[in-house]
Amino acid sequence: MRFKDRVVLVTGAARGIGKAIAESFSKEGARVVVNDINEEAAKNTAREIKENGGEAVGIKADVTDYESVIKMIEEVKNTYGSVEILVNNAGYWTIKRFKDTTPEDWEKDIRICYYGTLNCTHAVINDMIERRYGRIINIVSDAGRIGEPFLTVYSGAKAAIIGFSKALAKEVAKYNITVNCIAAGVTKTPGVEGFLKSVGGEEKLVKAYPRGRLGNPEDIANGVIFFALDESEYITGQVISISGGYTTVG
Ligand SMILES: NC(=O)c1ccc[n+]([C@@H]2O[C@H](COP(=O)([O-])OP(=O)(O)OC[C@H]3O[C@@H](n4cnc5c(N)ncnc54)[C@H](O)[C@@H]3O)[C@@H](O)[C@H]2O)c1
Repeated sequence: MRFKDRVVLVTGAARGIGKAIAESFSKEGARVVVNDINEEAAKNTAREIKENGGEAVGIKADVTDYESVIKMIEEVKNTYGSVEILVNNAGYWTIKRFKDTTPEDWEKDIRICYYGTLNCTHAVINDMIERRYGRIINIVSDAGRIGEPFLTVYSGAKAAIIGFSKALAKEVAKYNITVNCIAAGVTKTPGVEGFLKSVGGEEKLVKAYPRGRLGNPEDIANGVIFFALDESEYITGQVISISGGYTTVG
């Protein structure tokens, strides 16, 4: 029980990677806030966690909307207290050649990925500073480090989160707050099915993955737990790729 009673907020946690992260923290004794824009799905995931003996609440908020995020944080404070560990996981990607994208596509990728991270981080950072404790873990993508064709705007949005995380890490390190990123490789979630189809299927893609398989949501959750541990308090402003060896750049 390495996170007994810690208050953990995971955005976009109704399904996929976020759900696996919420479940992992729950198994370690945390009180977990399952955020999602899909209220029913968020509440279902929270209910599943409780049925498995954990403590969780599902709260709807659109991470692109600052007011909606502030309202969620107030609700968390009334339920569990201040957020101690924030995982900015909610994300969205447009799969198109850049020449075929529209400003509406750019808006969606950038608002959900980058503004979502800014909004949620801004909403919790003052409390973390006051309490002299905080862990912020941002789920980015290898696309934001090496660039992926057909995911151009998303690659840029994730790169922006990496730059933001490094800068914020330096601002808040003296308050015992760490800010780190996990760059996921292709990970098998409901959201990635369209992408797998667009590149010719899992069998084709997996050839580029030295480990011989694509990621599972639990692989990413394991990295999040690592960054959140008390033993990781001296690690900040870092990006770890969890991609079975697909990305090995420094
Ligand atoms: N799956 C992959 O291959 C992969 C690879 C690299 C990075 N990532 C990143 O991992 C994260 C999770 O991806 P996933 O594959 O689990 O996605 P997913 O699409 O399966 O799940 C994303 C969840 O986010 C929620 N969401 C979307 N917009 C939201 C908003 N505005 N406010 C609140 N919640 C919102 C969705 O309802 C959904 O439940 C994303 O940040 C994604 O960019 C995924």
